[in-house]
Amino acid sequence: MSDKLPGGASAKASGAKPAATAAAKAGTPAKAKPDATAATAATAATSASASADLTPESLAQALDLTSDWDNPLRHPGDRRLPKIAGPSGLVIFGVTGDLARKKLMPAVYDLANRGLLPPGFSLVGFARRDWEDEDFAQIVHDSVREHARTEFREEVWQQLAEGMRFIPGDFGDDQAFKQLRAAVEELDASRGTSGNYAFYLSVPPKFFPKVVKQLKKHGLADAPAGSWRRAVIEKPFGHNLKSARELNKVLHDVFDPEQVFRIDHYLGKETVQNILALRFANQMYEPVWNRSYVDHVQITMAEDIGIGGRAGYYDGIGSARDVIQNHLLQLMALTAMEEPIAFDADSLLTEKLKVLKSVRLPEELGEHTVRGQYAEGWQGGAKVPGYLEEEGIDPASKTDTYAAVKLEVDNRRWAGVPFYLRTGKRLGRRVTEIAVVFQRAPHSPFDSTATEELGANAIVFRVQPDEGMTVRFGSKVPGTSMEIRDVSMDFAYGESFTESSPEAYERLILDVLLGDANLFPRHQEVEESWKILDPIEEYWDKHGRPAQYASGSWGPGEADEMLARDGRSWRRP
Ligand code: BG6
Repeated sequence: MSDKLPGGASAKASGAKPAATAAAKAGTPAKAKPDATAATAATAATSASASADLTPESLAQALDLTSDWDNPLRHPGDRRLPKIAGPSGLVIFGVTGDLARKKLMPAVYDLANRGLLPPGFSLVGFARRDWEDEDFAQIVHDSVREHARTEFREEVWQQLAEGMRFIPGDFGDDQAFKQLRAAVEELDASRGTSGNYAFYLSVPPKFFPKVVKQLKKHGLADAPAGSWRRAVIEKPFGHNLKSARELNKVLHDVFDPEQVFRIDHYLGKETVQNILALRFANQMYEPVWNRSYVDHVQITMAEDIGIGGRAGYYDGIGSARDVIQNHLLQLMALTAMEEPIAFDADSLLTEKLKVLKSVRLPEELGEHTVRGQYAEGWQGGAKVPGYLEEEGIDPASKTDTYAAVKLEVDNRRWAGVPFYLRTGKRLGRRVTEIAVVFQRAPHSPFDSTATEELGANAIVFRVQPDEGMTVRFGSKVPGTSMEIRDVSMDFAYGESFTESSPEAYERLILDVLLGDANLFPRHQEVEESWKILDPIEEYWDKHGRPAQYASGSWGPGEADEMLARDGRSWRRP
């Protein structure tokens, strides 16, 4: 590969010294302060140092970076300036994987492009590849060009590319971890990252223990005085309660629980955060948000894609472990929880945990859970193979690609209200929604023929792709007779806001750098979620096989029968 960084940045990234970053020049990185104030100070330092005749030391003194400096003109509640990460860097393990290429690297660029990263932000890739820094930068460049949400700007790219380093090696390689430590120290000096690093483990879970142990062994998990170190973990967090506990133990041997950020990318979605805004910033939902008015809740996460090239990950895991254990149970917890006393990580954890702990499984798991496997069919005008014919899948595999479960929440608000959760690959279309379906009006003064076309009222949070909310209710059809039919009222993000929603990973990576844990499930939630799923998986393991459903359909007939037994039916999203 060429010696030139993509976009024409200077020859060798590892040797590249950015002109900016006062702290770097000073060799005395700004005191760690992972908030907007520190970032603002760092930015001010950067531009001031470029122009004024100040020594870095006098500049640091002038800005009083050595003490807990707060901008007296900036009120903490002021929303006009966005939250910007302070001096920091991100190390990604598993940088050659799909997630890094399609989501993480583009998200880092998008954050930089939106001005939310500090000027000296640095990105270190670690993988078993014979790459130089500039080869890595080229890979990042290509992934940004292909997947970034925001427009490509050469000057943003240049600044980012100068802080890119690559460490070749495998996870057992001590030499590579020594190199990583040296790279981090070099970046502290050259880019002013101030010892603040997040380590992103975008690797198969079997490697988690090895990587965190290596981080500890090589002193990378210990933050130098005044700075921070954080670990970011991708799911799956184990494959059952036992393995999740083991994993949490390994992690907590090295990092304090507050240093561990578990990614559930659904929590990074605007529409998911909006569940809390709708429920708790408004008055009109609360009175009806309970068993007196709600008949049941349906949470659907449907995908039209199959497993793609992910056979190695997916087979043996299946849809329930892949998304119900995390994304869908989180959606359920946000829908069902009580109001937190504050919008902070601890208060949110307290309330979500209460819901998860109150979940009751049906006694007859065979009657109230269903799993399926996609058979061949038509999707998007093309013939697609069944799961068992996919490359890399054992033709006898019992892995579920569809799962539907009925859960109840044993508390005063929800007793007797079923929550139906379903997910599947190769379904009719890609859609995620939460539908709160209300009971029928207790009495109707109209003829039954007048209300033949009237369904149940519903509030539907449309998580994706058509982000927004629908309220469904009955209305009189214009004319001389009293005929009542379902109508919908829509709120669409695209119509109400000019700003487009950031990608979940942008928000989550920024929050990691800011140390804001609100949108990250804690280990207690992960473990409670496994407690819900384990008995279902164990039951499935012992009983039969997944039902087949045609690709492009809405899942196996057994799932419709499951709801019909309760006198209900699935919504067609
Ligand atoms: C991931 C699952 O967590 O979520 C994938 O592992 C799934 O199997 C993906 O495809 C869906 O994410 P999104 O954001 O497209 O709904």
